[in-house]
Amino acid sequence: MERRAWRAPRRFILSALTSLALVPLTQAQITGSAHDLSPLDPDRRLCIFCHTPHGADTSVADAPLWNHATTNQNYVVYDSPTLDATVGQPVGASRLCLSCHDGTVAVDAFGSSPGSFFLGGPGAVGSDGLLNDHPISFQYTDSLAVQDGELHPPSVTSSLLGSTIDDDLLFNGSMECSSCHDVHRGPAAAAVNDALLMIPQTGSTLCLVCHNK
Ligand code: HEC
Ligand code: HEC
Ligand code: HEC
Ligand code: HEC
Repeated sequence: MERRAWRAPRRFILSALTSLALVPLTQAQITGSAHDLSPLDPDRRLCIFCHTPHGADTSVADAPLWNHATTNQNYVVYDSPTLDATVGQPVGASRLCLSCHDGTVAVDAFGSSPGSFFLGGPGAVGSDGLLNDHPISFQYTDSLAVQDGELHPPSVTSSLLGSTIDDDLLFNGSMECSSCHDVHRGPAAAAVNDALLMIPQTGSTLCLVCHNK
């Protein structure tokens, strides 16, 4: 099988920027984002790369009507002498992200097609394991915050997005890739307009929402 590297076509990003003049900055917009893979589909569908209304793959826990081939990699996960959380293999939504972002499964691998475009370079964050990446797939609880001493308690701390860290950023209490990123470039991420982040990096606001430093 031929392996080709996928880069989001710049003309789509440019057309998204042009349309910003016409729509409010906070409008959700997967169209024209890095996750607009429609140029790879003859019918120019957006959602099909990741979701299907029928016959979804239920092998990954908590996967929303999942349609993309999933990675079965085992990763060396983040660890350090000061880490209090118990970090396991990526589960749920994070495993779905890694199903393109570890570079082992093609971005257009859905339905019965194995696909042929693979992520490489800095976009393939999981291709060298997860030891050098912010920990994910662990429970971030108020008691973890007490144990650590320099984390905000998630059940009562504002996420800056309208509710608490727990409500807005965690998945059943778990920290995942989607705690920092919005795969759909929803209203919060569209407002930040950088790496699909939901909270700006300016002044390290993103980090300081959870870390009391
Ligand atoms: C690149 C992959 C990808 C594409 C494309 C994508 N999604 Fe998703 N979607 C995900 C992942 C991963 C999750 C679960 C994690 C999360 O919610 O952050 C999700 C969650 C969802 C959910 C449940 C949670 C929520 O946000 O409401 C809905 C509904 C959804 N997607 C609809 C859509 C629709 C409709 C489209 C097309 C317009 C679409 N998605 C395109 C990856 C994708
Ligand atoms: C179907 C494949 C696929 C899935 C699933 C997927 N991505 Fe992506 N992602 C891509 C592609 C393709 C790009 C564009 C890479 C490029 O242009 O180099 C991208 C780019 C990104 C970027 C960089 C965006 C930018 O504007 O620079 C981030 C952040 C990202 N993805 C996060 C996620 C997260 C988090 C998830 C899971 C919730 C996820 N992705 C799931 C294919 C995918
Ligand atoms: C603690 C917050 C946080 C978590 C958790 C997180 N990211 Fe990111 N990610 C960031 C920030 C901030 C950036 C932009 C700065 C950078 O590129 O280092 C980024 C950048 C990226 C990029 C763009 C890299 C590039 O240079 O093209 C991708 C792709 C990405 N993240 C995917 C993921 C995936 C997949 C996961 C889960 C395995 C994940 N992220 C978990 C904060 C996070
Ligand atoms: C949604 C909440 C959240 C966000 C946002 C977040 N973190 Fe974290 N981070 C955590 C939690 C929880 C831990 C686990 C801490 C522990 O168990 O010791 C952690 C762990 C870490 C660690 C490892 C600590 C250790 O002892 O090894 C570092 C370093 C770190 N984060 C830096 C950052 C930076 C830098 C940013 C911004 C780019 C960021 N975090 C954003 C919640 C978050």
